[in-house]
Parts: sequence; structure tokens; C-alpha cells
Amino acid sequence: MNHLLQIDASARRGRSLTRQLTNAFVAQWLYRQPDAVVTRRDVGAEPPPAVSEEWIAAAFAGAERNAEQCELLALSDRLIDEVEAADLILIGAPMYNYGMPAALKAWFDQIIRIDRTFSFDLGRGDKPLEPMLSGKQVVVLSSWGEFGFEPGGQNAMHNHLVPHIRTCSRYLGAKSFDALAIEYQEFGDDRHEASKLQAFDGIPALVERLQQTDGALAPPDAMLSFG
Ligand SMILES: Cc1cc2nc3c(=O)[nH]c(=O)nc-3n(C[C@H](O)[C@H](O)[C@H](O)COP(=O)(O)O)c2cc1C
Repeated sequence: MNHLLQIDASARRGRSLTRQLTNAFVAQWLYRQPDAVVTRRDVGAEPPPAVSEEWIAAAFAGAERNAEQCELLALSDRLIDEVEAADLILIGAPMYNYGMPAALKAWFDQIIRIDRTFSFDLGRGDKPLEPMLSGKQVVVLSSWGEFGFEPGGQNAMHNHLVPHIRTCSRYLGAKSFDALAIEYQEFGDDRHEASKLQAFDGIPALVERLQQTDGALAPPDAMLSFG
């Protein structure tokens, strides 16, 4: 449990709440495990390109892939190498239009790739895709302007962020998935302050649990906590 991959996806540099959360998480992790290695990938500052027709052809070219196509996949290879090397993948994911920022989606599109992170075999019947990575902890630290996006909350049906990342995290090799979020950012009122406090206060316990369990599955109701 020594290698963290920190992904930040906010377009905001200075005032970003998700960046504050991921930095607090990493600081707490290093406090408890000073020899941990941290790799940072800032997709908010440097968004990976959207995949193109040529990129898709290169990804599916297999053994026939030519030099130009290899070059086209070079960034994807590097991003996948970073995921492969990590024990824990920490994603700072702001909610944009009820889902993930385009830059983060572009990162997932670069990473979820045939014969690198999933295999495809129609011999498996109705479930031909199989993840190739395993054993990783995935943590999503989020922030949104509205509220009630937790399971059962009044806006749960509009939360296309956490459930989407959770589904995709299977192809990052997730053996566990945790998420917490700051709410009410757009209101900037006491509820926002309380939610911020709750989220930051939740980080030490989350880090402690993840380090202790080494990614053993948490009880389902402990996995998603939006303050
Ligand atoms: C482009 C954009 C779209 C947003 N869409 C939503 C949204 O659909 N729902 C919501 O609750 N908040 C939305 N917000 C508010 C952000 O989720 C909130 O400001 C959050 O704190 C952003 O993360 P950051 O502080 O790390 O930048 C949006 C903000 C931006 C900039």
C-alpha cells in the first residue's frame, strides 16, 4: 500500500475545493505512511485529448499497430502505466453539469483500453469485457454546488458523477470504492461550512480505514458519504 496516484480534475487552481480535499487526503496519508510514493496527474490543468477515430483504430489495431499508431497511443500508455503502478487511485472530481468534468472523462477514455485495462472475448457470452487490473483502492473526493445527491437524497437521480466513476472504477482494477463530497458550494451558507467541516473531518478516519483494511471492502453504507 505504498503508491498513490492523485488525479485532480478541477479547472480551478486556487479556489478548488476538490484540490483541497485531495491534498488533505495525501497529507494525511503521508503523515501516517511517510515512505509512500505519490504520483500526481493534473487533468484539470492539462486535459488529455478526446479520443479520435484514429485513436480508436490504433487502440484496436492489436499486433498490426504501426509506428504512427503507437505514437498516437503514447499518452494513453503513460496514463495506464500510472494507474497500473498505483495501489490507491485518488480522484478529485468536481461535479460539472451533474457529471464529471470533460477532462476527467477524457482521462477515463484514454485509460479504459482493450488489451491494456480490459480484455474482450465474445466466448464469455453476454459479459465479454473483463477488467485486467485488480487489487486497487479507489477514492473519489468531490464537491458540488447543490445538495441531496446522496443515495436516497432528493437529487440522487441527478448524480451522474459518483455512480459513473464507480462503474468505470472496475476497469481501474478497483477492489474497494469510497467517496465523500462537499455540498452546498453555490449557497456559501452555514450548510456549506458544515458540509466542508464534515468532509475534511472525515478524511483521517477514511485514511486510517483504508490503510488498516488495505482495501478490504467497506460496508456498503460506509462507502458513500456526502456531508
Ligand atoms: C462548469 C460547472 C458546472 C457545474 N455544474 C454543477 C452541477 O451540475 N451541479 C452542482 O451541484 N454544482 C455544479 N457546479 C458547481 C461545482 O460542482 C462546485 O463549484 C465545486 O466546488 C467545483 O469543484 P472545485 O471547487 O474543486 O472547483 C458546477 C460548476 C462549474 C464550474
